[in-house]
Amino acid sequence: MTHFLDIHKTEADQLRGIIDNARAMKIARNDRPKGMPDDDQPLAGRMVALIFEKPSTRTRVSFDVGVRQMGGQTMVLSGSEMQLGHGETIADTARVLSRYVDLIMIRTFEEATLLEMAEHATVPVINGLTNRTHPCQIMADIMTFEEHRGPIAGRKVVWSGDGNNVFASFAHAAGQFGFDLTFTGPKTLDPEPEWMEYAAAMGRPITIERDPYKAVEGADLVVTDTWVSMHDPQSAKERRHNQLRGYQVNSDLMSRAKPDSLFMHCLPAHRDDEATSEVMDGPHSVIFDEAENRLHAQKAIMRHCLGL
Ligand code: CP
Repeated sequence: MTHFLDIHKTEADQLRGIIDNARAMKIARNDRPKGMPDDDQPLAGRMVALIFEKPSTRTRVSFDVGVRQMGGQTMVLSGSEMQLGHGETIADTARVLSRYVDLIMIRTFEEATLLEMAEHATVPVINGLTNRTHPCQIMADIMTFEEHRGPIAGRKVVWSGDGNNVFASFAHAAGQFGFDLTFTGPKTLDPEPEWMEYAAAMGRPITIERDPYKAVEGADLVVTDTWVSMHDPQSAKERRHNQLRGYQVNSDLMSRAKPDSLFMHCLPAHRDDEATSEVMDGPHSVIFDEAENRLHAQKAIMRHCLGL
């Protein structure tokens, strides 16, 4: 059984294979005559369950479209409408779904839910985001960086803002893909020590720099994310905005990074909070390439999980 639960739980050569395969599938699809199905239909006859316990636009649509492009079928399930949301155990849900479908993607709150699903499923399980990590997003981000600027190994990536679940997967990727990661944000929103320790153990210790202007010096890539994540209480909004205002990615901040630096945001964004529209729509921004590459990266992740 090959699950895709986190970037640090998949071998580095397999991660590289996924990125290469995603790139090859993207090129093949772009080269085909418009309106024609892909020649390659590896998921023909297969059914994929897509479970969402949280809202989603990109993850939902890109997985659904990706499965269909590869000849498979999907079943999009809302956690609250399933018995899962009414007391049925995760283990029993995993065992039952495994009798019907070939692959499960789940977006959920607690990491424990994902892990329990994977433990009891007899089909592969993919992490579509938990409160702790978002590995599919960062696979798309690595692919996007390398399309624009070549290998990410040895490059400087700066995260500005909240040390959240998306940052966590960047920390895992720093270790696996070998890039330097700097975190700039308030101490109260520092990343979990476990992620810092992982990157350090992989020979890529994460730099913490409280001054965002110093942090972005020499950056190849500047990344930010929403200041209030889906799992954060809305009551924290004002306090977080006050804490994070100084870490907004604006044109002044981007001007301190390398002239050819890229800007990423996994979206959805709150324009003119964590990043200005000037940056999001400006020459450094690759945010919509990131969104597109969710499709290609996840197609390659599904093939990896199914051994296709
Ligand atoms: N970036 C991301 O996961 O987007 P959605 O929440 O819309 O799926």
